[in-house]
Amino acid sequence: MIFRQLFDGVSGTYTYLLASRRGGEAMILDPVIARVDRYLQLIAELDLHLVKAVDTHLHADHVTGLGALRDRTRCITVMGEQTKADVVSMRVAEGDRLTIEGIALDVLYTPGHTDDSYSFVMGDRVFTGDTLLIRGTGRTDFQNGDARQQYDSIFGKLLKLPDDTLVFPAHDYKGDTVSTIGEEKAFNPRLRVSSVDEYVALMAGLHLPDPKMMDVAIPANMKVGLAQDEVAARGWAVSAAEALTLVGRPDVAVIDLRERGERAKHGVIPGSLHAPYLDLAEYIERGGMIYELAAATNKRLLFYCAFGERSAMAVQAAQDMGLATACHLQGGIDAWKKAGGALTR
Ligand SMILES: [Fe+2]
Repeated sequence: MIFRQLFDGVSGTYTYLLASRRGGEAMILDPVIARVDRYLQLIAELDLHLVKAVDTHLHADHVTGLGALRDRTRCITVMGEQTKADVVSMRVAEGDRLTIEGIALDVLYTPGHTDDSYSFVMGDRVFTGDTLLIRGTGRTDFQNGDARQQYDSIFGKLLKLPDDTLVFPAHDYKGDTVSTIGEEKAFNPRLRVSSVDEYVALMAGLHLPDPKMMDVAIPANMKVGLAQDEVAARGWAVSAAEALTLVGRPDVAVIDLRERGERAKHGVIPGSLHAPYLDLAEYIERGGMIYELAAATNKRLLFYCAFGERSAMAVQAAQDMGLATACHLQGGIDAWKKAGGALTR
């Protein structure tokens, strides 16, 4: 396995690069925008293919690298379902599994630092974001933070993991890189409380200054979505209302780009074909299922995904391959549902 802990000294942020093998798919957790060139260099050196970029929560102390990585690699951006970010490609929730080739992360909803804070368990280790830090915990005094929720997230979920689970946080300011659940139980001063009320009082007494970057970082991190104006200006975008009139027509092929788990959880537009985004290149090349379907029938190709971001990137890729009838459902299945579109499971 490839496991790299990268550090941004300006914000004290840890970023994690994960892959199961050289030459394989990679995922990155909590990338910082200023270090995107460095990540991409390392990804190229290790011969990796970045497919998912994940933020554990909406950061207040640095601008996320999610948007820049997506724009430069066409990877999928991922955050929790409560995120205030305008558009991410995929939203996850408690109990989901976030996967790439050879790696699976179990998703834990651990609110408290913010209301969109998640932790991710990968075998013998857990990525705790800013929920549980090494000998500390994330502040709970802004972004819908809530000390009571954080207590429940830490004591009710994270500390229930085996004691030898390695703890990899999103930040450290003291030079520590890794801990374990057992160590934090024994030595984390914030966890030496006898009740939730005591924890709430402890957190309320911290009176921390606002992060230096806060006024820049939060607005920037809320506008991370792909710029889709160009796709729309070229006539490649279809509103959910238009899509309602297209779905079911014999001259339209509707293509779902989401993963199996998303389809099972959120439902499928009736009659749609399945072509997962990460395999799209195979489908749209000459000889691929979508390429040959379009060539043989001249059907209009209507791509869709969860929120319209993967489908916008797919339209661009398909048009690049000469598939001139390719368009996408703007806003994805989220917009389709809001427009009253039918779903099957
Ligand atoms: Fe944070």
